Amino acid sequence: MTNIGVSITGSGSAIPKVSLDNQQLSQIVDTSDEWIGSRTGIRKRQLANPTESLCSLATQASLAALGQTNITAKDIDLIILATSTPDDLFGTASQIQSELDAKQAVAFDMTAACSGFVFGLVTAAQFIRNGVYQNILLIGADILSRWVDWEDRTTCVLFGDGAGAVILQASGRDRLLGFELRSDGSQNNCLNLSYQPQEKKIIDGVAVSKGTYQPITMNGKEVYRFAVQKVPEVIEKALFRANISVEEIDWLLLHQANQRILDAVASRLNIPSEKVISNLRNYGNTSAASIPLALDEAVRQGQVSSGDIIAASGFGAGLTWGAVIFEWSSI
Ligand code: ACO
Repeated sequence: MTNIGVSITGSGSAIPKVSLDNQQLSQIVDTSDEWIGSRTGIRKRQLANPTESLCSLATQASLAALGQTNITAKDIDLIILATSTPDDLFGTASQIQSELDAKQAVAFDMTAACSGFVFGLVTAAQFIRNGVYQNILLIGADILSRWVDWEDRTTCVLFGDGAGAVILQASGRDRLLGFELRSDGSQNNCLNLSYQPQEKKIIDGVAVSKGTYQPITMNGKEVYRFAVQKVPEVIEKALFRANISVEEIDWLLLHQANQRILDAVASRLNIPSEKVISNLRNYGNTSAASIPLALDEAVRQGQVSSGDIIAASGFGAGLTWGAVIFEWSSI
């Protein structure tokens, strides 16, 4: 049997130590635990302090994921870091490769906001299926607290920081059962963390700009509507490709943006709430980290076990959204 199937064999996660609850947030902006809790389900979030880096969180999560497998960092062929908040715009994956001493691995960043982990999973799987790589480390990590306007109550209450990682390995049986990925740039202005020029310089007659990225802006209602409509559709498409019925899913694992979105998607798909993985109450929206972080907690708490079928779906800025159906297969 040739090893060109994909198995996800280990998971790990890391969160910053500092916690900020809704009560504390209400001292900073005009909000309340009642408002945040009832509109989003979020009660607290963990925030990276200035000495913590995306690289350090991602490295911790990666070591934990490796610890669940029978390989070491030396065996990793490829590292993909899904993030929108790298420590370095040239990429942070190489720093993680160095920290892990994963000498053999090629490493790169990829950006698809809160869909980053799902897009990364599908990307990584292609390298295994075409026989090029055997062992891949996929990390979803974000420190959005660096880019939140802490005076904007419509966004700052939603986000938190964290990292999650999984190991994908070549295997005789393909456990990545189906996927569907989508983008719609025409709705890009719903959710942005965009570069703004602040000064124009003329260098020998050539105009160049110098600026910085501006804090997150979001049209919450539009993003909500988009998620509740598109996520069930994309999951159904991925299930169709996997030739699996909704009833066969053991776990619905959505990007942890808002409990109301999780509930609405589950209800549209007729998935009972006991099958919905949710930990956003403790972490808020951790962007690319949210799915692997929730997966890792569910695995370590013994909720998810080998052989379980998981329907995961990410959605967010871009706009981007996607779903992947896989069978969990820890060794
Ligand atoms: N505290 C108290 N009041 C608030 C707050 C707050 N933190 N934020 C907004 N309000 C007020 C508004 O000003 C408004 O007041 P008004 O009626 O006097 O104008 C009122 O509350 C209602 O505001 P809405 O925006 O209508 O609230 P809504 O019920 O839509 O909830 C929310 C807002 C939670 C943001 C919701 O729209 C949502 O979850 N959207 C999806 C967001 C999302 O998932 N984003 C992440 C995508 S992932 C990525 O790629 C980063």
